[in-house]
Amino acid sequence: MRKAIVAGNWKMNTTLEDAALIIGTLVQLQAPKSDVERVIIPPFPWIVPLQQPVLDGGFMLGAQNCAVEDQGAFTGEVSASMLASFCTYVIAGHSERRHLFGETDDVVRGKLLAILRNGMYPILCVGELLDERDAGQAFEVVDRQLVAALKGSSKESLSELVIAYEPVWAIGTGRAATPDDAQQMAAHIRDTVASLFDIGFAQSIRIQYGGSVNETNAGAILSLPDVDGALVGGASLKAETFSRIIDAVGSRRS
Ligand code: PGA
Repeated sequence: MRKAIVAGNWKMNTTLEDAALIIGTLVQLQAPKSDVERVIIPPFPWIVPLQQPVLDGGFMLGAQNCAVEDQGAFTGEVSASMLASFCTYVIAGHSERRHLFGETDDVVRGKLLAILRNGMYPILCVGELLDERDAGQAFEVVDRQLVAALKGSSKESLSELVIAYEPVWAIGTGRAATPDDAQQMAAHIRDTVASLFDIGFAQSIRIQYGGSVNETNAGAILSLPDVDGALVGGASLKAETFSRIIDAVGSRRS
């Protein structure tokens, strides 16, 4: 059975004091868990000071982004090789990177390769815009993003791949996808991965849903057969709320 994975993407939020407080409270609220990986994805500067409390609390650490290159004259960039001493996971292709910072499918693939090359695990985000969904192109867009990111990589190198389905219209809007839509797309993603590699591999990788996950909808989302976890933005900034979302994994597969 695939192990659940719930990750909190703090984006460009929190002071260092806020961050330490969220972790401290989460660790108090959360009993050790064997059925779910819990990942904290803070802003870059907090990664180093938070590493010890996060790991000591039984959580894992992730990064929100990385450069395509490992080193060089790239002012302002942070490379996967720098993150590798601290992080287990790195997000590639978050829609805010794609749409606010112009990251193309090729750039996302470059980042995915950098993450793999440096021994970390990618959380590859895919998802359609509202216009694309309304035009009936959601599956096509997600397939394009998947194929572009994964082509040329071996399934061995991708063994720890996590794919996050995040419809852009659901991110930060309070309007999550319905469980039916989330399940349909997660199953479709598994089919596409099966066609790129094979069914066994497609069944082994984990797929998260992201976009306005909160403590009210988490139970329904986390019990979907093809959804193995959640990528949580706003609701991961409150320790009590994020803790309840993680605990909703218990309602899964019982
Ligand atoms: P949200 O963000 O939970 O605030 O909608 C999700 C994400 O961007 O990963």
